[in-house]
Amino acid sequence: MTKVLIDCDPGHDDATAILYAARHLELVGISTVYGNQSVDKTTTNALSLSDLLGLDVPVARGCEQPLIRTFRHGGDVHGKTGIDGAELPVPSRQAVDAHAVDFIIEMAGRYRDELVLCPIGPFTNVALALRKEPRLAKWLRGISCMGGTTQIGNTTPVAEFNIWCDPEAADIVFRSGVPMWMVGLNVTRQVGITEDDIARLNAGNAVARTYGGLFTFFRQRLNEIHGLTTASLHDPCALVPFIDPELITYANCPVEVELGDGITRGMTVCDFRNLTSAKLENIRSRSSNNCHVAVGVEARALVDHIMNAILAWPDRSSAKREAATH
Ligand code: BDR
Ligand code: CA
Repeated sequence: MTKVLIDCDPGHDDATAILYAARHLELVGISTVYGNQSVDKTTTNALSLSDLLGLDVPVARGCEQPLIRTFRHGGDVHGKTGIDGAELPVPSRQAVDAHAVDFIIEMAGRYRDELVLCPIGPFTNVALALRKEPRLAKWLRGISCMGGTTQIGNTTPVAEFNIWCDPEAADIVFRSGVPMWMVGLNVTRQVGITEDDIARLNAGNAVARTYGGLFTFFRQRLNEIHGLTTASLHDPCALVPFIDPELITYANCPVEVELGDGITRGMTVCDFRNLTSAKLENIRSRSSNNCHVAVGVEARALVDHIMNAILAWPDRSSAKREAATH
């Protein structure tokens, strides 16, 4: 089973990615980063979710700011807690002592050639880990991220949130030489939870109902901000290459991140031209094929797969409560 470490900022869709990874992959760790809220809040959320799901997985707290610029946490999309819409348990555990950057390095060293790193928040922890331990790029089996877009953005007309938060960090990751999969907004926006899906979750056990509450909030916010009618499950899409690769189609091509200060800052420029000659001076690609970019998705089949994972998740907290009363 593929070993995966999720680097995240939970986050409604991050919460879904954690469950989906735990259901289908060997989730060896969770590291946290600022993004959907402050790193204090995203770390608390990761710990609470681990309790809700009964996961015994180490959680490591990471960076609170991007590499260069200062980030202001608005909570525009995910609310004041970073995961509004449902009450989560007060965490029973604490984050491990190691910083996320060192935790990522340690886990990649322990599971050399096996570990897939899944950044589904800003790329700051991952970039710093690659800089701190140059051998990390060789140790990883791959990096599969939710980030970027081949079409429109969500934070600016052309930039997706995770890349826009720290384009310099994303640039380091895309240039790292690690085999990469980028599942961006162009695909993840199609993978949406409907009102009917939410009704099915609300008729399920306590875990399913918690996700029902989260998606109700998230769907409404996305409707208010972007006019969407479904709650986009962006982050679990980053796991699909290692769970069911057939559900998404990819183009292997050069990807570069725009680092300028203008309106295109944070854009992921995907070169789909498929040039056959590198010799032409003026139309050459600036870099080599560094990424498998998601270009198509069996959206409804993927939503159903994720829904099944949530609906089948046991309510371990009620089992614990019952055991305590007998
Ligand atoms: C990404 O930004 C966050 O809002 C989500 O958690 C996802 O990782 C989508 O642009
Ligand atoms: Ca996220």
